[in-house]
Amino acid sequence: MTLKLKQARDELEDWAKNLETKVEERTKEITAIQAQLIRSEKLASIGELVAGIAHEINNPLTGILVFSSLVNDNPKLDPALKDDLKTIVQETERCSKIVKGLLDFARESLPQKKLSSINDILDLALSLVEHQILFQNIALIKDYTFGMPDIMLDPNQFEQVFINMLLNAGQSMASGGSLNIRTGITEDGLSEFIAISDTGCGIPEENLPKIFDPFFSTKENRGTGLGLSVSYGIIHNHRGNICVQSVVGIGTTFTIELPINGEDKTEVGCGGEMYGKTDSIFQVTT
Ligand SMILES: Nc1ncnc2c1ncn2[C@@H]1O[C@H](COP(=O)(O)OP(=O)(O)OP(=O)(O)O)[C@@H](O)[C@H]1O
Ligand SMILES: [Mg+2]
Repeated sequence: MTLKLKQARDELEDWAKNLETKVEERTKEITAIQAQLIRSEKLASIGELVAGIAHEINNPLTGILVFSSLVNDNPKLDPALKDDLKTIVQETERCSKIVKGLLDFARESLPQKKLSSINDILDLALSLVEHQILFQNIALIKDYTFGMPDIMLDPNQFEQVFINMLLNAGQSMASGGSLNIRTGITEDGLSEFIAISDTGCGIPEENLPKIFDPFFSTKENRGTGLGLSVSYGIIHNHRGNICVQSVVGIGTTFTIELPINGEDKTEVGCGGEMYGKTDSIFQVTT
């Protein structure tokens, strides 16, 4: 009888302990889902506003570009005015780039998905940026896993995502460094991951929750702050997930996980342990 009572008490204690961990785990999950919902709602309402404004601005901008180019080609143009005109054209082009970014951000069209290889899209994105001056002092290390299955996704949208991430990495290493690109299959075998690591300036902890917000940029007038928010939208439209680990002065790793068979990854973070999460590394999981 005493033995049975002791056994029963031990079992009860075990349950209590398990329950506590379960509650903790669930609370964490709920908090993450809640944060994601707020972010999605915020992005959706900003998206609508932005799409409207961007469309309105696009037409007059095209007019300015066409007419300034016509004036530039006019033989009657005073050569002393050429430089001023060049500035007008350059700045208008910059505005067009921002508007294009806004339209991409607000794009409502569904992704044009087809079976695609992550490694091939990464190579394409790399070929477009690696010869830029920005990358001349940067050592590129490709650590691809070969033979991974193709995934149903929009290759053009992912090319854009990878270009955004590569440019961010390059811009964070103004005086050189190394860029590591790793691909593979997650431990559960359900997703493919792409980890882009740089040895750049890192992201201060207080900025981490803001980097996926539209228009958040620390690059003053060189950045629109749309690269990561556009990427976030594309990844989540593909039921994937993106998270970041960063240490100021050491570097940053962005990890994207994409489900191989379209199973939803948006409600769980990327595998923290797998990418070397430690207490000293600040991490944001979207
Ligand atoms: N690899 C990185 N290293 C350090 N900081 C980064 C990195 N990636 C992003 N960030 C931070 O996140 C901010 C937002 O990035 P995001 O790509 O959205 O905008 P941006 O690069 O400033 O402008 P753009 O719209 O031209 O991409 C950056 O301004 C920078 O502060
Ligand atoms: Mg950027």
